Amino acid sequence: MTRPGPKPYYVTTPLYYVNAPPHLGHAYTTVIADVLARYQRLRRGAAGVWFLTGTDEHGQKIQQAAAAAGQSPQAFADAIVPNFQNLWAALNISYDDFIRTTEPRHRQSVQAALTRLFQQGQIVKDHYEGWYCTPCETFWPKLVFAGPGGQPAAPVCPDCRRPVEQITEENYFFPLEPHRRWLVDHIRAQETFILPATRRNEVLAFLEQPLTPLCISRPTARLSWGIPLPSPPFEPGYVTYVWFDALLNYITAVGYPTVDARWPADAHLIGKDILRPHAVYWPIMLRALGLPPPATIAVHGWWLVEGEKMSKSKGNVVDPNVVVGEFGVDAYRYFLLREIPFGQDGTFSEAALERRYTDDLANDLGNLVYRMLTMVEKYFNGVLPLCPSVAPGLRGELIGRAIEACDFQAALNAIWQTVTEANMLVDKRKPWVLVKGGAAEKQQLAETMGTLANSLRAVAVWLWPFMPATSENIWRQLGCPGVPSDVEWDMAWTSRMADDQRIQKSPPLFPRRS
Ligand code: ME8
Ligand code: MG
Repeated sequence: MTRPGPKPYYVTTPLYYVNAPPHLGHAYTTVIADVLARYQRLRRGAAGVWFLTGTDEHGQKIQQAAAAAGQSPQAFADAIVPNFQNLWAALNISYDDFIRTTEPRHRQSVQAALTRLFQQGQIVKDHYEGWYCTPCETFWPKLVFAGPGGQPAAPVCPDCRRPVEQITEENYFFPLEPHRRWLVDHIRAQETFILPATRRNEVLAFLEQPLTPLCISRPTARLSWGIPLPSPPFEPGYVTYVWFDALLNYITAVGYPTVDARWPADAHLIGKDILRPHAVYWPIMLRALGLPPPATIAVHGWWLVEGEKMSKSKGNVVDPNVVVGEFGVDAYRYFLLREIPFGQDGTFSEAALERRYTDDLANDLGNLVYRMLTMVEKYFNGVLPLCPSVAPGLRGELIGRAIEACDFQAALNAIWQTVTEANMLVDKRKPWVLVKGGAAEKQQLAETMGTLANSLRAVAVWLWPFMPATSENIWRQLGCPGVPSDVEWDMAWTSRMADDQRIQKSPPLFPRRS
């Protein structure tokens, strides 16, 4: 597929494993990617953005989960994938493409990349003997297990603490070391290549040591569920290492082996658990294939449960469907982005969500909209009085810059500042007193309502990336035509509403919870 035209903004999520249905952690990354995609659509128009998500379906982890369920890996994956797609629909995720690594387009892309690397002499065959962690699909060549007092300790994975096994086999390897110098220079030169800076420093520290070659094959005797290494040029009897397969999805989706104008990606959104594959293997793979690296790898922290990472394999997950059913999709999206700073870990608690719902959403925002429209109904027969132009939108610029830097808290704080100022204006002007006054007071009343309407109009536009349904609801209630995303970003706060706009008041946005 070739898409002509200028380069669109290209944002991705990880491809999630299909060993179990999604949880809060997957929802978090995907909502962030959706906020970035929607924000860029506000700025560039819908055609200027490409948002990719999908599922990672190969490897031992999936093969074992399928076996435990008494199903073939493909049937198992087919049954899990709708859990992701349905959740994304429920969360209003506006992806443009959903890629599954079991699709023919992806198999072709992976095999083309492998063949190219092989022909360029960038792949070598070697003997491996050492430890292997199946859940992480990671080799640990140099582990020594010593317990207290020099006793041998149980062999466990240094990352996930689950048992590792000893294996001996012939495999294909992709030497990374020849590219290390280039990668270090690139990371040093591009301040925003890895965000936030703590993760950038972590990768630079890791790159101080020589890189061991990446094992890119698994013998079918041990693992059959994967993309076969193309034979020739490879010997028969191997499948592709699941990470090498999965990372390539980001270029499969833009047409590899003929990559179109969408590449390079503008932002790969990931959690800190998968920093190394994305910040070390992936740029080196691209370099070896003659392709430019992505612009930014944005790395967020973990949602924890009792101090531990929420994870499918630990079974301590919070099901997003349950929480969304209880609080609604926009309260959920808002909470995820407002509650913890991007890059840091956080703990999910229903009490914290309840507080945000009541204080920020029901009281500050919902109440403001409802109160204001009730007054327009009562004092102006439902027709907005002449709205004075609002001041040039310094705050809009600030919100935009914060979103671009993944500082979603700062963006939401700035939006809530506008909400708070609007509430203060109501308290100060007391429209219910003005309405009883003479001509001067009536004029002031009209100006107050106009100012409030313009503030809410700006809030609706700014909120669209975060809470699209709420944004469109406020927009509709204000009687604005179309949807907020039709409005050019620059116009969102500098222009004013049409005169004599008829409002359409609805029940409160965030009803009190009993
Ligand atoms: O790693 N807190 O898939 P995966 C925050 N298939 N985010 C979390 C989280 C948590 N507790 N748990 C999961 C894989 N995530 C590979 C990726 S990409 C080419 C291949 C989110 O199903 C977060 O984005 O284990 C994390 O990086 C991702 O899910 C891992 O998903
Ligand atoms: Mg994982």
